[in-house]
Amino acid sequence: MKKTDTHLYAASILSADFSCLEKAFDRINASGADWVHLDVMDGRFVPNITFGPKLVRDIRPLTRLPLDVHLMICEPEKYIEEFADAGADYLTFHIEESVHAHRIIQNIRSAGVKPGISIVPSTPVSAIYEVLPFVDVILIMTVNPGFGGQELIRSCLKKVGQLKELSAAHDFSYLVSVDGGVNRETAETVRDAGTDVLVSGSAFFKAEDPVEEVRFVRGDG
Ligand code: DX5
Ligand code: ZN
Repeated sequence: MKKTDTHLYAASILSADFSCLEKAFDRINASGADWVHLDVMDGRFVPNITFGPKLVRDIRPLTRLPLDVHLMICEPEKYIEEFADAGADYLTFHIEESVHAHRIIQNIRSAGVKPGISIVPSTPVSAIYEVLPFVDVILIMTVNPGFGGQELIRSCLKKVGQLKELSAAHDFSYLVSVDGGVNRETAETVRDAGTDVLVSGSAFFKAEDPVEEVRFVRGDG
């Protein structure tokens, strides 16, 4: 399997204390993380509810890092403008909830945001084949979405390799991101699969030393 040379670390705020988000962002900003990952859940597409564009807008001034917004919601097309105005840099939605994925991608890009597509563990890469040329990020869920702190489903990592091979063969420019169960125990396997962006939530907020955590998971040095 081909390894990528550089890896990015996306800190997910899902496991932060939402009553102290300034503190959470101080931790993220000081940690050396590359992106902030924001999980939007609607209680319909996934069995949990988090937050919407208002929170994205409110936290936007708290960091200079790119905001990687992961929409785990039904009808994502309805909220593109709101998340774009709120300051999202990446807007990723799920193929499982989107018949007209190509149009959604176009609308995200027209709103000035980088489009991403995501698949849950039971969805194969073939489901997103037609939109591969048009996205900036592909988010591979390695847990069933909805909650932090779950165990990584290792069999999902083969999709990373498939996507890297397709990207090399066709000169596609997307980054491949892995979300769910990324921690010190799994990071090396996740990186070796060819992952560009490692999303980590519970492990990041549990870590005693966030700087060291980011370096370790990213495989620096
Ligand atoms: C899960 C979310 C993840 C979550 C990962 O539905 O999409 O972004 O924050 O959490 P951990 O790192 O705890 O698995
Ligand atoms: Zn996520």
